[in-house]
Amino acid sequence: MSDVRPTWSTAWVTGASSGLGYALAQRLAEQGTRVAVSARSADKLASLAASNANLLPFPLDVRDTAETQRVAEEVIATIGLPDLVILNAGIGIFKNAARFDGDAFRTAVETNVIGIGNALSAIIPPMVERGSGHIALMGSLASFRGFPRAAHYAPTKSAVRSLAECLRFDLEDKGIDVTIINPGYVETPLTERVDTPMPGLMPLEPAVDRILVGLSKRRYEIAFPWYMEMIVKLGMRVTNFTYFTITRWTLGRA
Ligand SMILES: NC(=O)c1ccc[n+]([C@@H]2O[C@H](COP(=O)([O-])OP(=O)(O)OC[C@H]3O[C@@H](n4cnc5c(N)ncnc54)[C@H](OP(=O)(O)O)[C@@H]3O)[C@@H](O)[C@H]2O)c1
Repeated sequence: MSDVRPTWSTAWVTGASSGLGYALAQRLAEQGTRVAVSARSADKLASLAASNANLLPFPLDVRDTAETQRVAEEVIATIGLPDLVILNAGIGIFKNAARFDGDAFRTAVETNVIGIGNALSAIIPPMVERGSGHIALMGSLASFRGFPRAAHYAPTKSAVRSLAECLRFDLEDKGIDVTIINPGYVETPLTERVDTPMPGLMPLEPAVDRILVGLSKRRYEIAFPWYMEMIVKLGMRVTNFTYFTITRWTLGRA
């Protein structure tokens, strides 16, 4: 476990009832940060909060714009405007696009993209007014190119990656740091439901280490594992023919 100096007094983590968000919130709290934790599962947030007095539960469905605004205001009223906001709530749907499901696609876009927008509209104006803050968006290595069975997921993460780039341009001169977190496959409840090959699958704790170290250094991008990052980014430099051929060969069609 890495020893990351607590550079934030306060944080807000969405998607904190399980997986990456849960572990990130727990580690931040252990290091002395007061952390507001949000997700839909109020019971899981309550048991997380019971583990450390620095964790405060704020149940929330990020797809609901008015609720997100209200909860953000409650968070600010309780712990002050957070120094760090990790917009991590997300869902993963992996199925063949031959069975394309428009409702599932809408849910993924509403959770993974609109959910982030809902939180941003609540926290950016006060951060701009204060002149400081750190906003981290949960992307994915799946955001760089398409791959099999990812039609309901990868496009949402591409949107998040683009969003982070745009935010960085507009917020860097306002004292606000922006980070895009692009993990490869990490062992969480999300990947437990994936029944396709997961090259480079890594355990949760080292993934949380990488994220916290990158955040503490205020890096723009945190991507891991390094070899999957390299492969994915190499994939952006080859022709479509080469990309489709190699990806079909390594990940299969169905
Ligand atoms: N695990 C990986 O391999 C991997 C790789 C790259 C990126 N990611 C990204 O990392 C993030 C966390 O994923 P994970 O792997 O930790 O999965 P996870 O264990 O399933 O956690 C997802 C979290 O998001 C919350 N959530 C889902 N829908 C929500 C909603 N409408 N409103 C509020 N919270 C909601 C869930 O809580 P409730 O169900 O209680 O609401 C849960 O706390 C996601 O954005 C995912 O896309 C994961």
